[in-house]
Amino acid sequence: MVDEKVIKAAQEKYGELLRQQLKRVEDLKKEGDWIDYSKLDKLIIGVCGGDGIGPYICASAQKVMEFLLADKIKAKKAEVRIIDGLTIERRAAVLKAIPDDTLAELKKCHVILKGPTTTPSKGDGWPNIESANVAMRKQLDLFANIRPVSVPELGINWTFFRENTEGSYALGSNGIEVTDDLAMDFCVATKQGTDRIITAAFEFAKNSGLNYLSLVTKANIIKTTDGKFLSTMERIAKDYPMVKWDSWFIDIMTAKLIDPARRSDFKVFVLPNLYGDILTDEAAQIQGGVGTAGSANVGKRYAMFEAIHGSAPRMVDEGRAQYADPCSMIKAVALMMDHIGEAEKGKKLNMALDVCVQFERKLVMTGRNTGATGDEFAQYIMDTIKRPDLEKVWNGYIEKAKASKKNN
Ligand code: IPM
Ligand code: MG
Repeated sequence: MVDEKVIKAAQEKYGELLRQQLKRVEDLKKEGDWIDYSKLDKLIIGVCGGDGIGPYICASAQKVMEFLLADKIKAKKAEVRIIDGLTIERRAAVLKAIPDDTLAELKKCHVILKGPTTTPSKGDGWPNIESANVAMRKQLDLFANIRPVSVPELGINWTFFRENTEGSYALGSNGIEVTDDLAMDFCVATKQGTDRIITAAFEFAKNSGLNYLSLVTKANIIKTTDGKFLSTMERIAKDYPMVKWDSWFIDIMTAKLIDPARRSDFKVFVLPNLYGDILTDEAAQIQGGVGTAGSANVGKRYAMFEAIHGSAPRMVDEGRAQYADPCSMIKAVALMMDHIGEAEKGKKLNMALDVCVQFERKLVMTGRNTGATGDEFAQYIMDTIKRPDLEKVWNGYIEKAKASKKNN
């Protein structure tokens, strides 16, 4: 027998979720235009260490950032602000993904460098609070999660545009346990949310000259929300006749990324939130591991730059936090440079990362005291940036690596 009271209670919860999402759509309709960093008197950069290894690797990355922006900071054209309060203990104590005072501080910044934060999951003893990453993405409306992956010697140059505020994440902490036997989660796609991520991906495909965009969904099964991505793609593509585009399902794309005959053809990807989460870990692994990948979370008003991995509390428990690899966070600094109009600095930092991590390897990181500390490695990167022959050195390594791949 169906218990009508149970259905009514679930309907009420669902109704509340619908009200929230429709209100969100109204807010999205009022969204302003992109911020212009060149018009700011002073760029405010928040640094938010997070927890676990977060504060360690974030501090190393902050040094690199301050080194690159030294002139701007000195001229008071940029200001770095430390923002505490995003630790799991604090979040659990106030039962909020982001404590109110921390959020208020974050909102006074333009861009944020953020260390990993521990995300509670069912059964780990922490209260069921939403992930701080996910909350920050939603509350600052950081709708585009941009994740570049490059392996020059394999011809791989991918940029992922992961939708960052909707999909299966929008109501990830608001599923309904209808009865002990029935649990339901929800997936959200709005016209406004889908339009803006697909437009951002087309703009990038066009402006970068790559002119090729691949949509990744499972629209044959998840017909309504993924279907909306597909139909939006068809509509917006008409405004970008110079960009070739195609549509893939997530399962086969997961296979294609490890197909040496095919993978270097792909350039720019656009995907709903959950597929973007999964596929970018696979892509990062091809580049050398999730520890090598950074991510830009970009909205029209705010932007946040972070690693794509978690807070590794085990490393802290074992007393090895200072040996955690800061390269993902340093990569995030390179993305920040590109975003704030300092592309030349971003390019140099990326070259130095390639030289130090992949080729020259004067210092290596092992995650323990058999290798360098994060701070030592950050210093190595800064010293490499200072080298006047950096570009030449980088080119030399890339050419050599390409040649040795061909001979294999
Ligand atoms: C990422 C991470 C986060 C996500 C976690 C930590 C909540 O995996 O940034 O990809 O799922 O988005
Ligand atoms: Mg992830």
